[in-house]
Amino acid sequence: MAASGLAPPLLLALVLFCVLPTRSSSQAAPFKCSSTATCTALVDYISPNRTTLAHIQTLFTVRSFRSLLGANNLPPSTSPNTTVEAQRPTKVPFPCVCRNGTGVSNGKPLYKVVKDDGLYHIAVEVFSGLVTYQQIAAANNITNVNLILVGQELWIPLPCSCDDVDGAKVVHYGHVVQSGGTLEAIAQDYGTTVPALTRLNNGVNDSSLLAGQVLDVPVKANNSFLVLAACNSSVRSDSQDYPLLVANNTYIFTAMGCVKCKCDPSNNWTLQCEPSGAKPTNWSTCPAMQYCQGADGSLLSLGNTTATSCGAATCAYAGFNRNQTIFTTLATPTCPANTPGN
Ligand SMILES: *[C@@H]1O[C@H](CO)[C@@H](O)[C@H](O)[C@H]1NC(C)=O
Ligand SMILES: *[C@@H]1O[C@H](CO)[C@@H](O)[C@H](O)[C@H]1NC(C)=O
Ligand SMILES: *[C@@H]1O[C@H](CO)[C@@H](O)[C@H](O)[C@H]1NC(C)=O
Ligand SMILES: *[C@@H]1O[C@H](CO)[C@@H](O)[C@H](O)[C@H]1NC(C)=O
Ligand SMILES: *[C@@H]1O[C@H](CO)[C@@H](O)[C@H](O)[C@H]1NC(C)=O
Ligand SMILES: *[C@@H]1O[C@H](CO)[C@@H](O)[C@H](O)[C@H]1NC(C)=O
Ligand SMILES: *[C@@H]1O[C@H](CO)[C@@H](O)[C@H](O)[C@H]1NC(C)=O
Ligand SMILES: *[C@@H]1O[C@H](CO)[C@@H](O)[C@H](O)[C@H]1NC(C)=O
Ligand SMILES: *[C@@H]1O[C@H](CO)[C@@H](O)[C@H](O)[C@H]1NC(C)=O
Ligand SMILES: *[C@@H]1O[C@H](CO)[C@@H](O)[C@H](O)[C@H]1NC(C)=O
Ligand SMILES: *[C@@H]1O[C@H](CO)[C@@H](O)[C@H](O)[C@H]1NC(C)=O
Ligand SMILES: *[C@@H]1O[C@H](CO)[C@@H](O)[C@H](O)[C@H]1NC(C)=O
Repeated sequence: MAASGLAPPLLLALVLFCVLPTRSSSQAAPFKCSSTATCTALVDYISPNRTTLAHIQTLFTVRSFRSLLGANNLPPSTSPNTTVEAQRPTKVPFPCVCRNGTGVSNGKPLYKVVKDDGLYHIAVEVFSGLVTYQQIAAANNITNVNLILVGQELWIPLPCSCDDVDGAKVVHYGHVVQSGGTLEAIAQDYGTTVPALTRLNNGVNDSSLLAGQVLDVPVKANNSFLVLAACNSSVRSDSQDYPLLVANNTYIFTAMGCVKCKCDPSNNWTLQCEPSGAKPTNWSTCPAMQYCQGADGSLLSLGNTTATSCGAATCAYAGFNRNQTIFTTLATPTCPANTPGN
């Protein structure tokens, strides 16, 4: 599965002089991950230089620009040319998979070596310390870390996890600790607890916490304090995007870009999905979409609602498969035990 065996025409052999990475190895400790499912995770990218959203999308091989916007709660009209100031964190969504007890980005991002690159520079500067050069070397089966080749494609194994935490589905967010950050403040900001942070991060404590360290922060589906609270969805466990978790006030595109889902806390933390329309993809390549059947036998398409005796039922997104089907399910509101009848 590791990326890049054969590189395209290799122009120049490069020599890297290894520089003393004493701190970076602890900063980029891998996250524990034993789930068999794949998932979407987030990581902070802190560019050392002023950059653009388009550059971040390219650097991280983010397939959909819209998912980058969604993760950062930016409106769909945002231009890829939008400037991102140096040192300002941008949340990058990426696919995660568990391998041998730790989580890594699933085959992405792919970085193409340019002239004068070295593994240490790529790890610590280009990817701002989210990985170590040793991790890049291991992921790419590079035996001589002093030798990488111009044009060679490197898989950058970002830290992540797909594990449930305390029995709850969560989004694992690789939070880069800012100077002055404390576990208590981080736990509070993202709606988790200090013991959970300690447990997920090899016993980290405030005195061992370093600025720049990447912390595994589990963001729960239902937490009223956090910016990153995620909505619950009806996606079935055999769907390719299960567990589909969409953060508070964000939206994502799924089902090959054919479905747009948003998480609006004011809608009882329930994910709202609708056909994305023709724009994001070539609509003719979208999988066939199931209809929902209302109580009165009427057919509803994804996102449509129908009245029931105790509120509106919605034709909700339930996942998709490679066999070209987008599944739906009728999500009915929970009726109070005794409806005031007649
Ligand atoms: C982005 O900037 C380039 C030049 O800097 C310009 O040609 C292009 O039209 C811009 N794209 C958008 C979407 O604004
Ligand atoms: C799996 O992890 C163990 C210890 O963490 C290590 O010894 C082993 O080499 C790893 N296996 C692979 C295939 O990476
Ligand atoms: C940031 O800018 C400096 C100076 O222009 C340059 O040397 C360095 O490679 C840049 N870093 C990245 C990650 O682009
Ligand atoms: C790693 O590289 C070595 C030597 O180049 C090779 O023998 C081995 O098969 C490679 N392993 C993988 C998993 O590609
Ligand atoms: C914090 O963690 C470090 C490193 O694991 C350890 O040496 C230190 O004793 C811990 N401090 C406290 C107060 O637990
Ligand atoms: C969210 O969790 C809190 C307690 O943690 C609970 O009181 C509240 O009802 C939950 N909200 C939803 C929509 O499940
Ligand atoms: C949802 O996110 C917004 C920022 O987009 C934040 O201001 C708000 O407090 C969050 N709400 C909840 C309930 O988490
Ligand atoms: C989320 O959905 C699952 C399955 O539909 C349900 O069991 C669970 O109670 C829901 N959680 C919340 C917080 O609504
Ligand atoms: C929100 O969800 C809770 C638990 O699922 C339910 O009891 C409540 O009626 C819902 N509220 C609305 C306005 O749908
Ligand atoms: C969409 O796909 C169809 C069939 O593959 C093709 O005929 C059509 O030209 C495509 N349209 C666009 C705008 O790419
Ligand atoms: C169903 O939803 C679509 C948008 O997804 C809307 O255009 C259409 O009018 C709705 N149909 C009904 C019957 O509400
Ligand atoms: C895929 O669809 C075909 C026909 O459309 C069906 O025969 C087949 O069983 C389906 N496969 C799966 C795995 O659902």
